[in-house]
Amino acid sequence: MSTYGTFPGSRPRRLRTTPAMRRMVAETRLHPAELILPAFVREGIGEPVPIAAMPGVVQHTLDTLRKAAVEAVAAGVGGIMLFGVPEDAKKDALGSAGTDPDGILQEAVRQVRAEVGDELVVMSDLCLDEYTDHGHCGVLDAAGRVDNDATLERYAEMAQVQADAGVHVVGPSGMMDGQVGVIRDALDQTGHEDVAVLAYTAKYSSAFYGPFREAVGSSLKGDRKTYQQDPANAREALRELALDLAEGADMVMVKPALPYLDILAKVAESVAVPVAAYQISGEYAMIEAAAANGWIDRDKAIMETLTGIRRAGANMILTYWATEVARQL
Ligand code: PBG
Repeated sequence: MSTYGTFPGSRPRRLRTTPAMRRMVAETRLHPAELILPAFVREGIGEPVPIAAMPGVVQHTLDTLRKAAVEAVAAGVGGIMLFGVPEDAKKDALGSAGTDPDGILQEAVRQVRAEVGDELVVMSDLCLDEYTDHGHCGVLDAAGRVDNDATLERYAEMAQVQADAGVHVVGPSGMMDGQVGVIRDALDQTGHEDVAVLAYTAKYSSAFYGPFREAVGSSLKGDRKTYQQDPANAREALRELALDLAEGADMVMVKPALPYLDILAKVAESVAVPVAAYQISGEYAMIEAAAANGWIDRDKAIMETLTGIRRAGANMILTYWATEVARQL
């Protein structure tokens, strides 16, 4: 028992004395294979277009996307999550470019698969907001509300064209009720039993998606609060989790990552499937912006956030720094 004025009998600092000691006792380690690179590919451009709010991230051409995929493989990155950005003229109320077999995302999937085969897990965002002229993740009813069940029919079609293009994993991110089940059925009925579903299980309505809207040229006015979760709620995430698992999710995701580590920890504790976390555009932008001002050490901040996300229970992390970090590990 310790009393004031005596020497401490227990000294946790002993295990922090040298880098080798700290490395040996570290409970959490990052590995390139658990990193997933989100990547944007834009139709109708000759050169990659920088995304102002995400310094270092671009909208790729098909050519530079293939190169990025090859670099990711070389760095040992585990997967790539593809987002398609169609020409503005191709956006419409139904998000038709999202189900066009020759749409930009489908073409990107084909080309990336042709380039890297099975060396990288190729994933696709399964959502309508990149393709709709109103910018919502679903189709609208006569009153202008996002129509859940009409949207499910569109998602089923998207699942099929993305799987036909050769994707290994689809990532439904629209937060419609029943989306995982409908997508699973669509895949199974079209001979794509092996295509996995990474369900965006707990996806919160977040201010940190801001830079992403620029990245995909979204024209959204208003918000997504009628379908994405309220940041105030934790129990709701467990309900979404139970539904996604019952509907056949192979892997589940929590998004954003850093402001929702408690949710991530709860989800990770209670499932028997792999858990992913998405370090999103605003999380990326904050660190880059603060570092550009000389206010924080960029590399240390990146590693610390990724370690924190891993420690909270994520098996896999989607991060725009995936290739860079994988090279350092
Ligand atoms: C929806 C989608 C979004 C992101 C991934 N999928 C945007 C949104 O829900 O508003 C955000 C990713 C990021 O911010 O990095 N298709």
